[in-house]
Amino acid sequence: MAKTRYALVGVGSRGFGMFARPLVEDFADVAELVAFCDLNRHRMELANERLGLNIPSYVDFDVMLAEVKPDVVIVCTVDRTHHEYIIRALEAGCDVITEKPMTTTAANVRAILEAERRTGRRVRVTFNARYMAPSEKIYRLLREGTIGEIISVDFAEYLNTSHGADYFRRWHRRKENSGGLLVHKATHHFDLLNWWIGADPEMVFAFGDTRFYGPTREQRGERCLTCPYAKTCEFYLDLRADEKLRELYLEGEREDSYYRDRCVFSEEINIEDTMVVAIRYENRVLVNYALYAFMPYEGQRIAFNGTKGRMEVDLVDQYHGPDEKGIVRVYSLGVPPTVRVNPLFGRPYELPIERRQGGHGGADERIREHLFRADVPDPLNQVAGSRAGAMSVLIGAAANESIEKGLPVRVQDLLKLS
Ligand SMILES: NC(=O)c1ccc[n+]([C@@H]2O[C@H](COP(=O)([O-])OP(=O)(O)OC[C@H]3O[C@@H](n4cnc5c(N)ncnc54)[C@H](O)[C@@H]3O)[C@@H](O)[C@H]2O)c1
Repeated sequence: MAKTRYALVGVGSRGFGMFARPLVEDFADVAELVAFCDLNRHRMELANERLGLNIPSYVDFDVMLAEVKPDVVIVCTVDRTHHEYIIRALEAGCDVITEKPMTTTAANVRAILEAERRTGRRVRVTFNARYMAPSEKIYRLLREGTIGEIISVDFAEYLNTSHGADYFRRWHRRKENSGGLLVHKATHHFDLLNWWIGADPEMVFAFGDTRFYGPTREQRGERCLTCPYAKTCEFYLDLRADEKLRELYLEGEREDSYYRDRCVFSEEINIEDTMVVAIRYENRVLVNYALYAFMPYEGQRIAFNGTKGRMEVDLVDQYHGPDEKGIVRVYSLGVPPTVRVNPLFGRPYELPIERRQGGHGGADERIREHLFRADVPDPLNQVAGSRAGAMSVLIGAAANESIEKGLPVRVQDLLKLS
């Protein structure tokens, strides 16, 4: 059987680790990586160097499409540009695999759905969070009726001062690039909610604020590399000290001025670090969602209230601070995650959650099987297309609009052509 020919646009951290290397090393029997495309030549050269290959590299996407004629385009660029590449790839007769978020605005969602209909090609969205062990466990327990019919959900997302701060250092910090964290990050969580609840979101109301990052302190610079406060700032990031960051970003910045270590206290920041969202679903499920980006730890606390009980999942781990030796780093307390089921009028019990190795708790390896191999069974309905991509982005877009206007927003209204 002929191998599927993939072109990768966006050869950054995720593009290389999630797609380029595995395609070459683990899927060579069914897949061929035929082109790189990126505005930054350095990162494409580095990818070829690391793979020991000479994959044709392009700065011009249309020239790449015309010369290479890939079957599938993988979109892994800055979120702001996803829709452009998705639509141009569909129009060239390619199928598309896009990283999350599918796009950043409701208008772009509509344009992608329309292009998919018009061209008859297919878009898949890489919602790897569906493939994490806790997500699968929750999906199964809900479908088995463990708590009866779902009535409401509490979902809190905590980002620690290491990972969370990173969104304020680089392109994500501008809403026009990422849609803010309610699109860029929460697209995972809104997709999980849509998938677990099994219905479409109907209405969204949100508040958001920037209270911790942004120009909240006087002692700030343009970037860590040249900052006069480097010695005293707890957010100092030394790009020279980390081989991956140095090679990928510091050594590539002469081409595009992409500074990976911009100050988290900059005036340029226009995304929120504190967000709360209320969502009502078409099947009457109510969701209470929160995202905080400056926490001492990372993870989620999720609870489902149903007609037969309450189910709680605590996935908090990844503490950022001094470890037992006093070294400041991100570390785990090693407490195994569990699901706690509290049946109404019954005795509570705990169920273990499997621990898996690999990228994002083994989710990256699992989703790649679905993406790159034909006929892999999908009993949990994890394969996500443009509709799932759209519904999760639309909750974030509705939340952004709600924050701006101070009003509730109907998700269906965002789908209607303006
Ligand atoms: N699913 C996940 O768990 C996960 C994890 C990390 C990142 N991501 C997604 O992957 C994507 C890339 O993130 P990243 O962390 O690798 O970012 P990155 O900044 O490391 O890489 C982005 C790459 O895109 C290139 N680029 C930027 N604008 C471009 C344009 N107009 N045309 C062509 N190339 C362009 C940059 O030069 C860079 O090489 C994002 O959409 C992000 O949301 C997903």
